[in-house]
Amino acid sequence: MEWFTFQSSANKAPSANRELFAEQIPVQQLAEKFGTPLYVYSRQALETSYNAYYQALADRDHLICYAVKANSNLAVLNVLARLGAGFDIVSIGELERVLAAGGNPEKVVFSGVAKQRHEIRRALEVGVHCFNIESEQELERIQEEAQAMDKIARVSLRVNPDVDAQTHPYISTGLKDNKFGIDINHAPVVYARAEALSHIEVVGVDCHIGSQLTTTGPFLDALERLLLLMDQLKAQGIQLKHLDIGGGLGVQYQDEVVPSPSDYLVSVKQRLAEKGYGDLTLVVEPGRSIAAQAGIMLTRVELIKPTEQKNFAIVDGAMNDLLRPSIYSAWHTIVNTVEHSDVESLSYDVVGPVCESGDFLGKERALAIKEGDLLAIYSSGAYGFVMSSNYNTRCRAAEVMVDGSEAYVIRRRETVEEQFASESLLP
Ligand code: LLP
Repeated sequence: MEWFTFQSSANKAPSANRELFAEQIPVQQLAEKFGTPLYVYSRQALETSYNAYYQALADRDHLICYAVKANSNLAVLNVLARLGAGFDIVSIGELERVLAAGGNPEKVVFSGVAKQRHEIRRALEVGVHCFNIESEQELERIQEEAQAMDKIARVSLRVNPDVDAQTHPYISTGLKDNKFGIDINHAPVVYARAEALSHIEVVGVDCHIGSQLTTTGPFLDALERLLLLMDQLKAQGIQLKHLDIGGGLGVQYQDEVVPSPSDYLVSVKQRLAEKGYGDLTLVVEPGRSIAAQAGIMLTRVELIKPTEQKNFAIVDGAMNDLLRPSIYSAWHTIVNTVEHSDVESLSYDVVGPVCESGDFLGKERALAIKEGDLLAIYSSGAYGFVMSSNYNTRCRAAEVMVDGSEAYVIRRRETVEEQFASESLLP
């Protein structure tokens, strides 16, 4: 979290030693100005994590398609588009975001298990790089739409290599019993069909086995299976232009030791070279490893409630703002943004005001806090705001991007009126 650091306190409060900064701005200032809960992103962090992929791939043909679902704020997409990023999208909404943010449609890969006809048409109209096909039914549907529009649809088959990603079951996608992809053993038949279709051009092969992987083993196992398939396709006379190895690289939320993009990609590149696929364009679809550490969520302690069993720190952020702890029991580090010298550290369950016992941001956390303190929930840049909801008619948080000593509102806080503006009463 090098872009979010504790530094000597700027406001020199007598009991505060150091306080948290986002790049060069004390986060207290951001919270005072923009309110809480507040998502704060660091532009430099985003650029640094994108560049780690770029540097790892600069020596070969490649396409880095940032997975829009991880954080789809227009400003985030625009920062990446300016660096030349491509995008992995899963809906027409995400495509429109990419276009609105200045992204290049020719660098877009369209993933997702059931692309709707209107989505396919729009993607063909703007000319996406390719469709990642997840079933034979979808292949036929894309052929029909492309034919009707007199366009050629470039496709890549997302194959399911039946590899255990060893991650949370909800975010594991490469096993046979998952809904994703085409069984790798059946893929040659589907490739043959795709080759025979009039408005389909086969360009690649794709797989994505899961998210938050903390070792390279499952990625490399999947790669071996893809290589076998690629050999088989070559023998069938099918020429691929690219290999898309998906996203999935994990980040350190707690004490995980995770490979860097370069650790991981060095092994992939080496294996491709050994097998004679050095010239193939390598496509990656990273989401979390680009955005997670580039964001924190700030939330204010409303009340401290000691009970016989435990201490609760009730904060103004909740499961509707950051869902990951509730649904995946995910750990996010929580810190007080000021270091008090006169407050005892106790164990707290940090919970929100939503009416569910599952509404927590962290359990049994050692914190030295007082009412009114500002807490930071780390690693919230990916799958944070994007998974937020209006549950309990709570307004969605504001988002701010810090760039050096400047802070920009990139999404203002929602209002209650906006929430029900699209609803209506019966006559
Ligand atoms: N490509 C495809 C086809 C995907 O389905 C995903 C993520 C990615 C790329 C990006 O994966 P990443 O690099 O971010 O691991 N909400 C969950 C994560 C769901 C990931 C879904 N697919 C969470 O909060 O952990």
